Amino acid sequence: MIKAPRGTRDLLPPDTALWNFVEATVRDIFRAYNFQEIRTPIFESTELFARGVGEETDIVAKEMFTWEEGRGATLQQQMSSFWTSKHLAEIEDLDWHVVFENRRRPDLVVKTATNYLVVEFKRRTINQATIDNIKQFRKVSPPIADWYDPRLLLVFAEEPSSFVRRLAAANGVEIEVIDMPGYEAPESLTLRPEATAGIVRAYIEHNLASRGLNKVFCIGPMFRRERPQKGRYRQFYQIDAEIIGPPASGSDAPSRDAEILELLATLLDRLGITGWTLELNSVGCPNDRVKFNEALRAALEPVKEKMCADCQRRAVTNPLRVFDCKVPEDQPIIDKLPRISHFLDEPCRKHFDAVQEILKAVGVPFVINDRLVRGLDYYTRTAFEFTHGALGAQNAILGGGRYDGLSESLGGPAAPGIGFAIGEDRLVLSLQQKVTPESVLRKPDVYIAPLGQTKDGAGMNPEAARLARELRQRDLVVELGDESFRLKKSFEAAERAGAKYILIVGENEVKSDTFALKNLATGEQVSVPRPDLVDRIQSGR
Ligand code: HAM
Repeated sequence: MIKAPRGTRDLLPPDTALWNFVEATVRDIFRAYNFQEIRTPIFESTELFARGVGEETDIVAKEMFTWEEGRGATLQQQMSSFWTSKHLAEIEDLDWHVVFENRRRPDLVVKTATNYLVVEFKRRTINQATIDNIKQFRKVSPPIADWYDPRLLLVFAEEPSSFVRRLAAANGVEIEVIDMPGYEAPESLTLRPEATAGIVRAYIEHNLASRGLNKVFCIGPMFRRERPQKGRYRQFYQIDAEIIGPPASGSDAPSRDAEILELLATLLDRLGITGWTLELNSVGCPNDRVKFNEALRAALEPVKEKMCADCQRRAVTNPLRVFDCKVPEDQPIIDKLPRISHFLDEPCRKHFDAVQEILKAVGVPFVINDRLVRGLDYYTRTAFEFTHGALGAQNAILGGGRYDGLSESLGGPAAPGIGFAIGEDRLVLSLQQKVTPESVLRKPDVYIAPLGQTKDGAGMNPEAARLARELRQRDLVVELGDESFRLKKSFEAAERAGAKYILIVGENEVKSDTFALKNLATGEQVSVPRPDLVDRIQSGR
């Protein structure tokens, strides 16, 4: 038997009624707060997430479903053959080690041999963080550490811009350019692990800045290669909303943060979800982050050897991500690390205070959690999660925050923004404890049972179909039987469908244009002239 792949699942009726109930409710609320729907592709270029969400995040480093689109050899194979053919004489006898290779990032490979450090990657992905990463490889990779000044050779698929040359020079990195004439890089694509990066890409691509403040939402599947468990799937659904616009539109104002948080509190209350906690923090701006990262690096230096391999690497490359570590033995060390709250500059502190003040004024309760840094790199200032005790280990129903520099890091204009994503699977899980699918499902008002054939052999199906059409046009929910069913079987089918009434369509009924209508709960049966049917059924609904 072919089963749904691990970490995916079928959502079946009647459970889908709960999903529809959730989505209808959130659409109503989005309307009240003046949000409009946006739909972006389910896959995007890999680079969007690498640059937007961040190379060192779990999502990008470990969890993306990525593939290359293009014919022939992979990018990595083509690049390898290019530079090896050019340097064949020098390197023929060298014994190469691959130091770093990530299946999901085929465009970045690091190899070493005596006096050589070769980094192969696509030009488009080079930024300061990449260069920092490469420099760190020299320090952290044991095979490299002993070597005397390894030569760094960069192999590019395209002519690098002067920007890359300047970057390399500024970092004391020796750079060699190998042109690959006629080379067409295969496109690396990724199933979206989240919606924000795609929405900001669309904002830039379609110049949505010209519209001023954009308030958009999107509902749909996301994909992360995580270890499946209750509340954690590889295909899951998010309800995502973003407020984004040029600074002049007020997109950076604390009132926007508070509006988002108040919307969420209203939404959970409206759905009847009680017992949630809003955890709030400010992760500051890039200035604060530089100071905080320095402090973290210093604090981690003496203890990092005792930590897991991921933390050891992150301690050097992106220390903030150490806070994402789930390894139990590392937690006591992480608990003692400095907190971002001590590094906020005056404008960030004021912004955070203003958000809290509005939340108090509108009566949305929250707790400050200064360990909350969120697992994505784009956050600035306000960061938050709503948790729910009943969910167990995966207790975050939703998360979000500000991302004031995201647009710029994707090559767009300044566009401060704030948003959130609700894990719809988890929302439905917490709802299921209170609301049953049956209670939100609209069952058939009436089951129409065509009965047999007339003496001259005409069937009752056409007449029954005509009636069903009339009633459905009047917004009744109608289930339609078949003339081959005997009366008993029609009753059974009507019961199974949960219909309120059964309407009998037999030869006599058609002749008199008056139909037998039976209430399946009370057993009461009446004869109703055709023009009165709708009213009669509606009044008993
Ligand atoms: P996130 O915290 O990565 O944020 O995901 C948001 C929510 O999606 C989580 O709180 C959780 O409920 C749900 N979720 C995440 N992974 C899974 C999974 N594997 N299975 C089931 N549910 C999951 C973001 O995605 C950001 N884009 C939110 C955002 C929007 N920030 C600003 N704007």
